[in-house]
Amino acid sequence: MRQIRAPETFRVKSFGCQMNVYDGERMAELLAEKGMRAAPEGAEADLVVLNTCHIREKAAEKVYSDIGRLVKAGGDRPPMIAVAGCVAQAEGEEIMARAPAVGLVVGPQAYHRLPSMIDQVVGGQRAADTDMPADAKFAALPARRRVGPSAFLTIQEGCDKFCTYCVVPYTRGAEISRPFSDLLREAETLVEHGAREITLLGQNVNAWSNDETGFDSLIRELAKIPDLRRIRYTTSHPNDVTEGLIRAHAEVDKLMPYLHLPVQSGSDRVLRAMNRSHTADSYLRLLDRFRAARPDLALSGDFIVGFPGESDAEFEETLRLVDAVGYAQAFSFKYSPRPGTPAATMDDQIAGDVMDERLQRLQASINRDQLAFNEASVGKHCQVLVERKGKKPGQWLGKSPWLQSVHFEGEAAMGDVVEVELVQAGPNSLAALLLTSGAAEAA
Ligand code: SAH
Ligand code: SF4
Ligand code: F3S
Repeated sequence: MRQIRAPETFRVKSFGCQMNVYDGERMAELLAEKGMRAAPEGAEADLVVLNTCHIREKAAEKVYSDIGRLVKAGGDRPPMIAVAGCVAQAEGEEIMARAPAVGLVVGPQAYHRLPSMIDQVVGGQRAADTDMPADAKFAALPARRRVGPSAFLTIQEGCDKFCTYCVVPYTRGAEISRPFSDLLREAETLVEHGAREITLLGQNVNAWSNDETGFDSLIRELAKIPDLRRIRYTTSHPNDVTEGLIRAHAEVDKLMPYLHLPVQSGSDRVLRAMNRSHTADSYLRLLDRFRAARPDLALSGDFIVGFPGESDAEFEETLRLVDAVGYAQAFSFKYSPRPGTPAATMDDQIAGDVMDERLQRLQASINRDQLAFNEASVGKHCQVLVERKGKKPGQWLGKSPWLQSVHFEGEAAMGDVVEVELVQAGPNSLAALLLTSGAAEAA
């Protein structure tokens, strides 16, 4: 391979879940520490990191077409291309073999080694690292500094649950929990640099534990950081819910009234085939307990339609579960066979047009409930964390406690927590009137 110029500018493109967003931010920090600059919007970068997701179909195809586009746009000066994330973990070798334009491949547990891998590529040698050393990555990363009012903090990674449709246990490895003291330090640094809300992240975030300390104790400790105003977490798993977590929703003011608890299906037979180890009914009873602790809790979930063997009647059970819950928000996907997972080779794979039709019906129900939830919020007074400027002059965008997008006009600044009245609802956002400004509130 020919000698390559050391990259001076970079761009990180993250796909997939919030954990990938977090990883993308950490990679950017790492590259900045190495002396590189983020390429300005619209400009070509010397190094492009494709931080990929493998959760649903065509993930690999998409990576190859992105690579092709980058090579073409670069003309006689193509950028150094790094493939990171879950596709890199699952198909790293194949990518190296099929795409000579790729300089390096780095898995989600190895990206702290990015700087030395870049040096290796500059030296004329392609590099690949998809090792999964438990926990080594975090210790090797520089301190946080690029943060907005709302920041992510990965506290737990990996998954031991092995749902039969899912690649995550293979791409992210076994469950690990980061040590409590590291998390406290990182949270404090985030707040020092302007974060007012922290969203705790994990593939099974509520499985976090460390030296007898459980997830709800972590929330209670973080809530003691004075300038931290809001705590959220995602994604939680029904089987790791504890009484302590439910109580935290009643007792910790800074813990926002929002719960993302995926259920996937309303049919017990399908749930068993998915290896979910909860039933539709046990899920609903769990939600009842959360709602008893925090009556205004906004609920969110994930659904898969067209899992192998799913009958019309079983799909109807999912619709009934949605009706029973009344989600404030939910995500629904067509089942996608993932290479190497048990479900991919099950009999009775469902035809595409059947999945399309089921997805449409499910999404119609979810959209109806989401609009109803937003409409029921009109007239409420609540606090909004101001996250950025809106398109119109004087307009601000932020989030309600229930994670609704809210826009309003008036005197405010990023990071303020302001009091508003919600006055108008749409399917995806609400308009509000400013009641107190951030400055007045701080006085
Ligand atoms: N750990 C989380 C979710 C991780 S993946 C949990 O278990 O709840 C995010 C969502 O993607 C899943 O909740 C599921 O709804 C969806 N998903 C995962 N694998 C999929 C597949 N093979 N096909 C379609 N959707 C899938
Ligand atoms: Fe995937 Fe299931 Fe693990 Fe969630 S719990 S990451 S869906 S295997
Ligand atoms: Fe995708 Fe990996 Fe997240 S497969 S959803 S980026 S854990």
